[in-house]
Amino acid sequence: MNASSLSAAQAPATTTAPASQGSTLYGGVTNRRVTVRDLAAAKQRGERWAMLTAYDALTAGVFDEAGIPVLLVGDSAGNCHLGYETTVPVTMDQMTMLSAAVVRGTERALVVADLPFGSYQESPAQALRNAARLMKEAGVGAVKLEGGERSARTIELLVEAGVPVMAHVGLTPQSVHALGGYPVQGRGDEASHKLQRDAKAVQQAGAFAVVLEAVPAELAAHVTESLTIPTVGIGAGVGCDAQVLVWTDMAGMTAGRVPKFVKQYANLRGVLGDAAREFAAEVRDGAFPAAEHSFT
Ligand code: KIV
Repeated sequence: MNASSLSAAQAPATTTAPASQGSTLYGGVTNRRVTVRDLAAAKQRGERWAMLTAYDALTAGVFDEAGIPVLLVGDSAGNCHLGYETTVPVTMDQMTMLSAAVVRGTERALVVADLPFGSYQESPAQALRNAARLMKEAGVGAVKLEGGERSARTIELLVEAGVPVMAHVGLTPQSVHALGGYPVQGRGDEASHKLQRDAKAVQQAGAFAVVLEAVPAELAAHVTESLTIPTVGIGAGVGCDAQVLVWTDMAGMTAGRVPKFVKQYANLRGVLGDAAREFAAEVRDGAFPAAEHSFT
């Protein structure tokens, strides 16, 4: 029996209601997926929330169980999962496959997928075609794209068509070659005004949230206060409505140096490496498999 065959009295009360009354976003919405309305309600009541990237069903399931309300299938998959140097080579086929896995691995989180470089800049029509693919084939609840004023017309068309859009301003990694690296954005009067215009433009265009990446903390806090939609900071200080980290950075899986704004909450690379070394040593010594791991 599906929900439409239930009487109003039998239907689950929370199917459409936002998690605004007496509930929290973190771990609070348990019998349905988090929606963009829940995020809007969280901004109104001043509740901060966390977003993590995810690129596969297994890891996404762990974060879903932990109560992380929004999971981003970032095109950071390029450098954090697929072995590229930047996000630039990531394709729609790859994003669709990874996003579908994250949706399959979760029950509760709102899954947002990045539109990769080259999949939306050509025209709003191209953006809609690819956003629709991520929603229809992978089942994501929203898409994210980079750019402020330059992407406003595209955001407008997607939103009009029923696609929830998370915008991304400040440092936009898909422009790494044009920017000559990953410099902090919004420093100085001109750059600060540009960032504020970008943030206003995406809100005006209908984005439900905006990522602020690598922006001075004071400027990000000011932008957050001036917007009605939630800001999601990464390297943007504590004054944002939400914070996002790339999961491999957050959990200590990343090899080598991590950016200044990353806090590592675990040393998964060390733990996994130790487990692999111990397994190999026991195989070499004949200690594995023991009798309890063998069939009679
Ligand atoms: O691709 C990504 O992971 C992102 C986040 C860093 C915001 O865009």
